[in-house]
Amino acid sequence: MTLVAITYNLKKKPAEGLPGDFYSEFDEKSTISAIESAIRKAGFKTARIEADEKAYIKLKKMRPDFVFNIAEGLRGRSRESQIPAMLELLEIPYLASDPTTLSIGLNKAMTKDMLIQNRIPTAAFQVFYKADEKLLRKLHFPLIVKPLYEGSSKGIKNDCVVKNDAELRKKLSEIIAAYEQPALVEEFLSGRELTVAVIGNDEPIALPILEIVFDSLPPEANPIYSYEAKWVWDTKENPINVVSCPARISPYLKRRIEKIAIQTYRALNVRDWCRIDMRLGKHNRPYVLEINPLPGIGPDPIEHSNLPAMWYSMGLKYEQLINTVLYYAMKRAGINHNFKDSLAVKDLKKYVRRANRKAR
Ligand SMILES: Nc1ncnc2c1ncn2[C@@H]1O[C@H](COP(=O)(O)OP(=O)(O)OP(=O)(O)O)[C@@H](O)[C@H]1O
Ligand SMILES: [Mg+2]
Repeated sequence: MTLVAITYNLKKKPAEGLPGDFYSEFDEKSTISAIESAIRKAGFKTARIEADEKAYIKLKKMRPDFVFNIAEGLRGRSRESQIPAMLELLEIPYLASDPTTLSIGLNKAMTKDMLIQNRIPTAAFQVFYKADEKLLRKLHFPLIVKPLYEGSSKGIKNDCVVKNDAELRKKLSEIIAAYEQPALVEEFLSGRELTVAVIGNDEPIALPILEIVFDSLPPEANPIYSYEAKWVWDTKENPINVVSCPARISPYLKRRIEKIAIQTYRALNVRDWCRIDMRLGKHNRPYVLEINPLPGIGPDPIEHSNLPAMWYSMGLKYEQLINTVLYYAMKRAGINHNFKDSLAVKDLKKYVRRANRKAR
């Protein structure tokens, strides 16, 4: 029987002295269980491998036929590439993007350089290695300050939107010190926030677009999908509705966003799946904020994990998501398997169209 190993990093409590959001990119046990159960139902044998220092030896011994990789990696700006690099060395095929794409994707400035190179709209920006560097003349307040290579809104607190030089310098010092990395300063885009998932390879498909709705945030909150909005104000016990899918947008804007998302996917050589975050600027023009080639896939709808929420908006189940992406990834890797619960490209397209039609 074909063996599929899942590689992941489990969420844990940060040790004394580490920022409270240190492990926020890591996954819950319930996510790994849901993935494993879906893969088993597809007729595979499964194994779990925590993506730590022992992972290489385990992978080498086990030699799974395929790896379902959702590991964030342990440290450094290339951490998301740690497991994929091991797998390339061992010649074991795996889900999602390769080390080059993952490293660029995690680095927001490098991603933006690639976007600019490909004429894909993205906000004006500057990388700060030190808090006292001169601000480029082209950047106008309000600005947003974020760690250069984090995800899951790590370091993007409500006060990251800065209105003047004093606020900027304070936030720069804070981020550079706490996250031990440069900070990215970007023009603040005040329009609607939309995120879109793309799935597939030869014929990548955009899922229904999801809007982040800021109305339900506390009144004093800045309109951003901050750390607090993802993890503090919206909890399982006390959920607030921050997502709306499919987003109610004009057919023109929808087409524009889908086009930009697929261009981005191709420009960065993304494989199998990805979530691309965008925000509207002047004249309702969409700009790409960043890409997530290891998208969050928490299964519980109450968590508001964005990609599963898009999937559920089509009336489809979590298992079908896992099986569909696995099917596309295995096909890319030349592995044949008789999937019962995965969607062929033309069927997935039908579901997307139906969900989008209903939203209008
Ligand atoms: N230039 C910007 N203008 C306006 N809002 C922004 C900008 N950059 C980031 N934001 C806000 O901050 C949020 C987090 O930013 P971003 O998506 O870059 O971080 P992330 O931590 O990588 O997110 P993810 O959880 O998707 O990995 C965005 O969803 C958006 O609300
Ligand atoms: Mg994001």
